[in-house]
Amino acid sequence: MIRDVQDKILKLKKEKDVFILAHSYQAREIIEVADFVGDSFMLSLEAQKTTAKNILLCGVHFMAETAKMLSPEKHVFLANPLASCPMAEQMEPDMISQLKKMEPDRTVVAYINTTAALKAVCDVCVTSSTAVKIVKNIENDKILFIPDCNLGDYVKKNLPNKDIKLLQGGCPVHASVTLKDLEEAKALHPNAPVLVHPECIPAVVGRADYVGSTSGIANFAKSSDHKEFIIGTEISIAESLQYECPDKSFYILSKKIICPNMKLTTLVDVLHSIENIDNGGAFEINMTDEEISRSRRCIDEMIRLGND
Ligand code: 13P
Ligand code: SF4
Repeated sequence: MIRDVQDKILKLKKEKDVFILAHSYQAREIIEVADFVGDSFMLSLEAQKTTAKNILLCGVHFMAETAKMLSPEKHVFLANPLASCPMAEQMEPDMISQLKKMEPDRTVVAYINTTAALKAVCDVCVTSSTAVKIVKNIENDKILFIPDCNLGDYVKKNLPNKDIKLLQGGCPVHASVTLKDLEEAKALHPNAPVLVHPECIPAVVGRADYVGSTSGIANFAKSSDHKEFIIGTEISIAESLQYECPDKSFYILSKKIICPNMKLTTLVDVLHSIENIDNGGAFEINMTDEEISRSRRCIDEMIRLGND
């Protein structure tokens, strides 16, 4: 049954010139039909590279918006219109504009998990895999980092010479992991290194053996000589790694790290989106040229500073 749906998707995506971009948190059956799978930064680079007429994003809304900003000439669709990241909507553009007026000498750095409207009032974007490098490369030492204070704290600790101001925001899924969860996991698997996403709270990040993006965690585990790992990001990463590396063992840091929004997209959503891609029945990201140019500035800065 799953194979039948996948075969239909593979056939239709060729016929309709659709490039499927899937975030690494997506379900395995979606990952298997995707043209590219990766973390937020890699997805944004790939969105720019593809020559396909249509991009179908399997992930959350801000990722599809970013793909549209980087490929405005393409039709970009989100496989499930309800999939959105709660962190992306935590801060209002007006509030950030007010803060900028109060401290105009600070460069405002936005995590890519933000709406296009919020990006439009910020100076530079970062992803979890590029945040330290990009903030380091910013000439100005005075930074306002939004919205994730946990990722911001991680950047701050890595760049002690920068004056980084944080606001209270973040990922409710990763922030749910406690130090007690980590200690319990360590007690069960004392030889397994702990690999965590920087969206986890500082106490957890501080005890980890490796901190990195979703792709960073996966690459670390695949190339490591260790045979077992405790994975501190969405549980799909531990599941994918277990599938890809059957000779190693992957344990989840906490049963709570399930992102309900990332889980919304199903293989049938992917099929329906492709079937309806040219009749108005799929969820297309529509942005005006002005909206794109206002929000894209900080994504272009991210790519420029990230490639330095
Ligand atoms: P990555 O940049 O690691 O893909 O993270 C995106 C995200 O939403 C993690 O929760
Ligand atoms: Fe957003 Fe957190 Fe889900 Fe990532 S895991 S999409 S940051 S809510």
